[in-house]
Amino acid sequence: MLEKFIINGKRKLEGEVEIHGAKNAVLPLLCASVLCDDKVVLRNCPNLSDVDNTIQILRFLGFSVNKENNVVEIFPAKSIKNYIPECYMSKMRSSIVFLGSILAKEGKAKLCFPGGCELGPRPIDIHLTGLKKFGVEINEKFGVIDCKAKRLLATSINLPFPSVGATQNLMLAAVKANGKTVIHNAAREPEIKELQDFLNKCGADISGAGGNSITINGVNKLYGCEHTVLPDRIEASTYMAFASVTNGKLNLKNVCTEHIEPVIFAFREAGCEMSLTENEVKIVAPETLKRVHHVKTLVYPGFPTDSIMPLMSMCAVAKGTSVFEETIFQNRYKSADELNKLGA
Ligand code: UD1
Repeated sequence: MLEKFIINGKRKLEGEVEIHGAKNAVLPLLCASVLCDDKVVLRNCPNLSDVDNTIQILRFLGFSVNKENNVVEIFPAKSIKNYIPECYMSKMRSSIVFLGSILAKEGKAKLCFPGGCELGPRPIDIHLTGLKKFGVEINEKFGVIDCKAKRLLATSINLPFPSVGATQNLMLAAVKANGKTVIHNAAREPEIKELQDFLNKCGADISGAGGNSITINGVNKLYGCEHTVLPDRIEASTYMAFASVTNGKLNLKNVCTEHIEPVIFAFREAGCEMSLTENEVKIVAPETLKRVHHVKTLVYPGFPTDSIMPLMSMCAVAKGTSVFEETIFQNRYKSADELNKLGA
C-alpha cells in the first residue's frame, strides 16, 4: 500500500488520460450481485480499496469472486450467510447497501452500522424507514441492525430526501417483492440509473431511474449478466482540476460529459477552454485562472458535493474570491485547512 505521494511542483500537466469506472456505481452493483442466480461479470471496475473491501464481504457471505485487472466475476452461491460483522461493515459507508440485497434474498439480514465518516454524521434512518414499508421488522441493538420479513411486500415510498444509498437499498429490496413498488422523490444520480440498467439486464423490471419516481415490478428470479461500469464523473472533475491548477491541458477519454455539466460550467467560468464530445473532454487552462463566483452543491443534476474539493483547489490559485456553499454534508470543508497550510 502506497503511504505517501511526493509531488515536485511547477509542472504543467499535459497529455491524455482514460477515466476509470465509477466507484459509486460499481459498489452497489457488487451488492446487487448477491441477488443473481448466475455468474455476473463486471468490466471497467476501478482498482480501489473500497472495491476490494466489498469483494471481501461477498467472499465472507459465501460467493466465489475473481478479480483480474479491471474485470470482476462473481459466481453464484448455493447458500449464503445473512450477516456481516463489524470488521467488514466499519470499513465503508456503502456496505449498508448489502442490507436490501441480503434481505431480498434471505428474508433476513443482520448488519452492524456502517463505518463512521469524515463528512459528518451519516444516519441511515431513510433506509430503515423505507424498508419497514415492505413489512420488514427491524430491531436495532448494540450497533446491530437485525431485519426480518416473512416476505417483502411491494409498496409505495416517499423519501423525505433523495438519498442515493437509500434509493439503492430500496430498489434492491423491491426487485423480488411480490407486486409493484414505487419510490417517490428518489435520488436521480447516474449511479441509480446504472443500478437499474444492471438489474434489468439480470431480468428485473425497473423503470424511471434518473427521474423522480422509480417503479419496480417484482420478479421471481434474477439471472447474471455482463456489464461495463460507467465512467467516474468525480475522477473526471479531479483531472480537470489537475489540468487547471498547473495551467496545463489534458484530453480526458471515457467521460460521460452529460454527467458533469455543472462542473464543466464552473471550469469555463474560471477561464478554461473546454471542448466536449459525448465521451471526451479537452481542457486547456489559461495562464491566470479567474474566480468562480458561487458554487452551491445540490443533488443531481446539481453541482456534485464530491467535486467540491478539486474545484476548491483550483479556486485557491485563481484570481479573486470564490464562494462555496455545501448543502449535502456537514463536514465537507476539512480540506480547506489543508489548502491553508499550502498558503491558500
Ligand atoms: C453517496 C455517494 C457519495 C456522495 C453522496 C451524495 C456512494 C458510495 N457514495 O453517498 O460519494 O457524496 O451519495 O451524492 O455512492 N441521509 C440521512 N439519512 C439517511 C441517508 C442519508 O440523513 O438515511 C443524509 C446524509 O447524512 C447526507 C445526505 O443525506 O447528509 C446525503 O446522503 P446520501 O445521498 O444517502 O449519500 P450516500 O449514499 O451516503
